[in-house]
Amino acid sequence: MIITFICTGNTCRSPVAEGIFKKMHPEYDVYSAGLNTVFGMNVSENSVIAAKDYGVDISGHVSRPLSKELLMATDLFVCLSQSHAMQLMPLVGKGRVYVLGNGISDPYGGSLDIYKSCAKEIYDGLLKLDEDLKTLPVIRPMTEEDIKGVAELEKECFASPWSEKSLSEELENGNAYFFVADISGEIAGYIGTISVFGECSVTNIAVKEKYRNKGIASSLLQRAILNSVYLDDDFITLEVRKSNTPAISLYEKFGFRKMGERKNFYRLPTEDAYIYNKYLKGDSE
Ligand code: COA
Repeated sequence: MIITFICTGNTCRSPVAEGIFKKMHPEYDVYSAGLNTVFGMNVSENSVIAAKDYGVDISGHVSRPLSKELLMATDLFVCLSQSHAMQLMPLVGKGRVYVLGNGISDPYGGSLDIYKSCAKEIYDGLLKLDEDLKTLPVIRPMTEEDIKGVAELEKECFASPWSEKSLSEELENGNAYFFVADISGEIAGYIGTISVFGECSVTNIAVKEKYRNKGIASSLLQRAILNSVYLDDDFITLEVRKSNTPAISLYEKFGFRKMGERKNFYRLPTEDAYIYNKYLKGDSE
């Protein structure tokens, strides 16, 4: 899992959080970045001293802004304040954004005591994050280990489900981008897309019944849209059963517009499909 801590300058709070969480979870890829910073500023001296109380040496850290690459790769953005979260959410979706503790106030320019109490707040927030990670859906790219869970989800949701083999083949397909919602190792949902020559097709989206109406499909769709923007696609297209009110409502919420129909597109039961498109570079008309 890739976790990125986010603050403003990436010289005080987020490097401390990064350092301590890395120590707690060497198995995760942990980074930090600032929303309003430049490359290469040294971490503040007081932060270095405060982090030492937790057995962590962050003296080598230098600031970095949130890059396009990190924006795409990060599974969970842990924001050091609510305002950072508000800035990120429209871009990456609610499901990939988490606020540490109740938000940690900026110690910038304060005394060592202020930095130490900030580090304590961060530490307490990280313990809670650890607990919350057990139930939080993490949106991340699908891997081979997920295939079984995704195939089970397909069986639960569709009359003609994709097989494990077909899903596995998509991992080898350079044009396919599949993402899962992982709740502590359980596949709660997934979305599949294929991007070719500027056109992104959503092959499927599904969420386990027990996890529905919690915003998981929204987070998955948001991730797929962001990925498509990153790939410089022109538009995203999909088909949906005419009777599938929840899915139609989801797509319309994300700005997809009905473009046409396909007669008898679906089997078991036979049903027409609506075609929905979302244009990523301005309107088609
Ligand atoms: N009735 C009407 N609209 C619904 C709905 C329902 N039962 N469930 C979700 N929506 C719409 C709403 O617009 C909702 O926005 P809101 O919460 O602001 O009202 C929006 O979808 C997002 O809801 P979210 O919680 O993110 O969706 P979800 O995680 O419950 O998943 C589906 C939605 C469609 C993916 C899910 O119902 C599902 O897996 N269905 C079976 C598989 C399927 O039909 N896939 C679509 C194939 S085209």
